[in-house]
Amino acid sequence: PETVPIPGPKGLPFVGSMLDVNIELPLSTWDGFADEYGDIFRVNFPGRTTVWVTTQALAHELCDEKRFRKSIKNALNQVRNGVHDGLFTARDEEPNWGVAHRILMPAFGPASIQGMFPDMLEIATQLALKWARHGPETPIMVTDDFTRLTLDTLALCSMNFRFNSYYHDAMHPFITAMGDFLTESGTRQLRPSFAGIFYRQANKKYWEDIQVLRDTAQAVLDSRKKHPSDRKDLLTAMLDGIDPKTGQKLSDSSIIDNLITFLIAGHETTSGLLSFAFYQLIKHPEAYKRAQAEVDSVLGRGTITVEHTKKLPYISAILRETLRLSPTIPIIALEAKEDTVIGGKYHIPKEQMVLLLLSKIHLDKRVYGETAEQFVPERMLEENFERLLKEFPDCWKPFGNGMRACIGRPFAWQEAVLVMAVLLQNFDFSFDDPNYSLQYKQTLTVKPKDFYMRATLRHGQT
Ligand code: HEM
Repeated sequence: PETVPIPGPKGLPFVGSMLDVNIELPLSTWDGFADEYGDIFRVNFPGRTTVWVTTQALAHELCDEKRFRKSIKNALNQVRNGVHDGLFTARDEEPNWGVAHRILMPAFGPASIQGMFPDMLEIATQLALKWARHGPETPIMVTDDFTRLTLDTLALCSMNFRFNSYYHDAMHPFITAMGDFLTESGTRQLRPSFAGIFYRQANKKYWEDIQVLRDTAQAVLDSRKKHPSDRKDLLTAMLDGIDPKTGQKLSDSSIIDNLITFLIAGHETTSGLLSFAFYQLIKHPEAYKRAQAEVDSVLGRGTITVEHTKKLPYISAILRETLRLSPTIPIIALEAKEDTVIGGKYHIPKEQMVLLLLSKIHLDKRVYGETAEQFVPERMLEENFERLLKEFPDCWKPFGNGMRACIGRPFAWQEAVLVMAVLLQNFDFSFDDPNYSLQYKQTLTVKPKDFYMRATLRHGQT
């Protein structure tokens, strides 16, 4: 077919649009280009061109795994310095991806995740106790406390390791090293390669951080081998698992890659989701009331069980709507398997990187109508949600696509529903600053910036 050029900023010779990128919040740059250029745009950087799509219709074409695959060219390629061909950062064709995927899928299945409920509840209870002790006058740094929660939960459920983050003001050295490693992985990719010599100190620290991550995981692995356990966690699954297709087991270094990967992939994404969800609830009192009423009618004053978590449809709808408006991974990187044409008229050469800009795809008016930018959890109640996905496939992609979609989704969902329920059951929440307006902070994921809330016990001290 006849093709037309993809519109986009002109940029400068040599550096392209590099100087236009808001380093603090790159997402604002991409969203700005989307507002200016529409459904699709092209951005040039030194040595590479990127194409971005912003509508459900184009996203649907790109989610065709026969034509496109996951791309590991940008920040993910840097993260490989620490976790190699672990599940998140492997290329489709790398054999370790298939082996780990087949061994781990059952470990992320419903039975296994339900088995983790008591550990998840224990960490959620620690958080509730901390907030109860703080009392209603203390501002809560929401994203920090949810990050403690999600990291502690992941470490406990995946390898029976306790960070005990609530008992220390300073984060565990592993957590600091991981945060610095991720931030640096994000900025390294924006630097031209020749600039490396100006960043000796940063490079040294980067590789030291990676060593801290790997040494910690190695120590957990060694200890488990010395003291075998029948705990049904992800580490056991990886140590005992045999790939049904090849008969292979995972090597030690592959187990370490994946242990670190779970912590990286699972903590900020889930803590960001919880933080945005509480922001939305406090901002929307009607939805808040409905959520609290649902929790009260299902849980009463009793202790939450795994069965309860399946009876909270409005909480699920809130989480889905939150991920629609604020996908914590806002961009998914793909590349064309062969030369192709999308949207009937845009030529995409083989290996061209194409990015799904979820922050815009999720606001497509053709899908979500005039209220696309508003928080309306009702549209995400089970029946409505299914209808949406059927009528507009790939209109909601916060967990990624196809075989490379999030393996941890059931884990994250159970944890998020549990935490929302326990917190709404026990506290009333309000903004610390009544005039707070939502801003984003971006590392490899996005979360609300400077968001503080207050928590008042609903039923007095127990
Ligand atoms: C993959 C989102 C929680 C582990 C992904 C991808 C997305 C995503 C978008 C695909 C990335 C891409 O295409 O490049 C989320 C969100 C979460 C969440 C929004 C929480 C709300 C978790 C948790 C874990 C986890 C809790 C671990 C326990 C992984 C892994 C992959 C992945 C291992 C790579 C899968 C593969 O390629 O085989 N996630 N995730 N995620 N996620 Fe999650």
